[in-house]
Order: sequence, then C-alpha cells, then structure tokens
Amino acid sequence: MITHTTDVAIIGAGPSGLLLSQLLHLDGISSILVERTSRARVLSRIRAGVLERGTLDGLAEAGVDARLQAERIDHDGVTLAFDGDVLEIPVHGLTGHHVVVYGQTEVTRDLIEAAEARGQTILWDCPDAQLSDLRTAPRVQLSAPDGTKHEIKAQLLAGCDGFHGICRQAIPAAQARVFEREYPFGWLGLLVDRPPVAHNVVYANHREGFALASMRSATRSRYYVQSDPGDRVEDWPEARFWEAFQTRMGDMGKRVEIGPALEMSIAPLRSFVSEPMSYGRMFLAGDAAHIVPPTGAKGLNLAVADVRRLARAISRWKGGCEEGLAAYSDAALARVWKVERFSWYLTKLMHQFPTHSAFEKRMQRAEFDYIASSPAAQTMIAENYVGLDF
Ligand code: APR
Ligand code: PHB
Repeated sequence: MITHTTDVAIIGAGPSGLLLSQLLHLDGISSILVERTSRARVLSRIRAGVLERGTLDGLAEAGVDARLQAERIDHDGVTLAFDGDVLEIPVHGLTGHHVVVYGQTEVTRDLIEAAEARGQTILWDCPDAQLSDLRTAPRVQLSAPDGTKHEIKAQLLAGCDGFHGICRQAIPAAQARVFEREYPFGWLGLLVDRPPVAHNVVYANHREGFALASMRSATRSRYYVQSDPGDRVEDWPEARFWEAFQTRMGDMGKRVEIGPALEMSIAPLRSFVSEPMSYGRMFLAGDAAHIVPPTGAKGLNLAVADVRRLARAISRWKGGCEEGLAAYSDAALARVWKVERFSWYLTKLMHQFPTHSAFEKRMQRAEFDYIASSPAAQTMIAENYVGLDF
C-alpha cells in the first residue's frame, strides 16, 4: 500500500478538478487528483466552447490563459432565429461584456499541461476509488493500473467527478434533495473544418426542430441539431444532418459550407441539481452537483464559478477560518439555480417539444416577438449569456 497525505483529495480530472488543483496550488495548498479514465480520454471529449466573463477571470487567476488570450474569438452578440426571423442581441452593447469562443477541450488541455508543469500528482486510470471518513478526515482507497494499492489521507475532499461520479452518491439519500427535468430530445453535434456560417452563435427554433451554429475557430465549425431521445449517431448519416441543419437555419442555411464530419456525437438534455453541495469534509463542484441543458453554454461556466468559490473557501480554511466552507453549499446553489433557470428558459423557448399544443407553440412565438421588441427582455438574456456576477 502506497500512502499519500495531502490537504485536498480531488476526485475527477475534468475541468473542475483540474482548475481547483491549480488554484489551490497557487495558494500553497496541496492536492492529489484521482481520475477514473486516461489523460487521452479526458482530452478526447468534445464539449461546448463559449466562455463567460467569470470563466475568463478564473482562468486568468489560475495563470492558464496564455493560449486562450492568443486564440480567443470575442463575440459581442448572440443570434436567436425563429422560423426564419432573425434577432441579433447586442450583448456587449447591453452589458459591456463579451463572450469568448474557445473550446472546452482546449481549456482542459491548458489545465492538464499546467498541472504537469508543476509536478501535480494525477492518478490516471483509477476507476475503483473508494471514499471513507467523509465527515472527519477523508480517505480515498484505490488500485493503480499496475495493481498497486494506494490510500490518500486528506483534510478535505472535492467531488469533481461529474454527473456519473461517486461523490454525490456518497451523501446519504436521506440528506440529499434531487431536482431533475429530462427533456424529450437530444442534441446531435458535428465538428467540421469549414468556416462558420455566422459570426455569432446562432440558436434557431424551426418547426422541424432546433439547430445551433457555433465555431471553434475561423476555419472550424461546431453545429448541432435537435434529435429524438432514442436516436443514435448511426441514425444520422452526414447527409441527413446537413439537410436538417440547413433547413432549420433558414436563409443562413443557404450559406452553410458542407464538409466531412471530424466528429459526431449525441448528448441527452437534462436539468439537474442535487442539494446540498457538501457533506462533512466533502464539497461538490461542477457536474458532480448539477447539470444544465447546453442551451446557453453554461455547463463549464457554472463549474468554474463553483470551483472559484470553493478554492476561496479552502484558502480561508487553510488560514484557520471555516466560515467559507460552511457557507459554500448555500452560496454556490444560489447562483446554480439562477443559471439553471436561464438554461431551462432558453431550452423551453428554442426547441420543438413533441408534447406542445398549438397554444404552447404560440407562446414560444409570442415570447420571441416580445424579446425582439423589448430592450429589457434582451438585457435579461444578455446579462445571463455573458455571465451573472460571481
Ligand atoms: N473516480 C475518478 N474519476 C471519476 C469518477 C470516479 N469514480 N467518476 C467520474 N470521474 C471523472 C470523469 O472521468 C471526468 O473526467 O471525473 C471527471 C468529471 O469531469 P466532467 O464530467 O467534465 O465534469 P466537470 O469537471 O465538472 O466539468 C463540467 O464538463 O462535462 C462537461 O458539460 C460539462 O461543461 C461541463 C463541464
Ligand atoms: C459550442 O460551441 O459547442 C456551443 C455553443 C453554445 C451552446 C452549446 C454549445 O449553447
């Protein structure tokens, strides 16, 4: 048995765990990360690519934003389209802030490279972590790929292990409250080396279904179409994807440059929150505690907000003050619920629901027309899109 002693054991080396370990390191606080899968697998994940202002601040605080600053694409607007009518919301004009396009995969790569540069211990390929003593002095027991047994003795444990992790499950059911909404559709995403069809991110509600046009650079686009819950990627030959995408994007669809898919994947949509976000000396951050539908690109941004808050609370703990840790769950949840609301609102507005009556379809159209006519409504969307105060 190899025994490790550290201030904070972090379960999960996705964006949340990696950013937390980086911020703690800068404050002289030690951590060890335990990751179920491989470094390559973590870096193979294609996720969203829109960063809000708090995420830019968090990555700058962490000192990992050099490439981001060199490669960022600033957007000063976001476009909503509804059955061919197009509304560009001037988010920068309304809030004074931009959003930045920079792929989550690149954020994760920057964080992994920073961790390796500082000699951070990341135990990759360890799928069998067992947690104990969460209310006193957390222990993590695991087997390394070579079969060696490890034990981590920590003061605190950060659950950054995502929706399918073990940390949230370690909270006794009687002490947890779960709130969940599954949506009757998924998103089929496609990555292509062609210039993006629009200079902004475009969310389109069309009678045939939702579509989204985004990008990773001036030459690489990320497109999505709403798919049925049971759909698999095999059900969507590329020709079918392009036909649906071009139709749903209306006039913009006529300008789409089609090319071979570099990647196609389907993701289900759900809203999910588990309260509280702490149990004894364990603190949850990111997808381990909550999930938002990707409409509004809040997943990574919400995770970063949790991590920044948790890192500050742990720094105060290291200085002898427990107040930040005691307040963490309630403070994090206050912001989580506001972001859950915005993601749910935009999902409800921009998708075709199979259960919607003619009345509810009219309500969607009326909401879009109201937004188009109301600077106040556009400001609501803009301030949520660029990111709420931290
Ligand atoms: N032991 C160790 N690691 C685990 C375990 C486990 N039992 N279970 C899951 N993990 C790892 C996963 O392999 C993954 O690498 O935890 C990590 C969790 O990372 P994410 O799921 O990316 O969650 P998070 O870091 O909170 O980032 C949230 O990533 O998934 C997107 O949409 C999400 O944009 C959001 C962001
Ligand atoms: C993306 O660029 O992948 C993206 C953009 C906006 C979203 C979701 C995903 O709401």
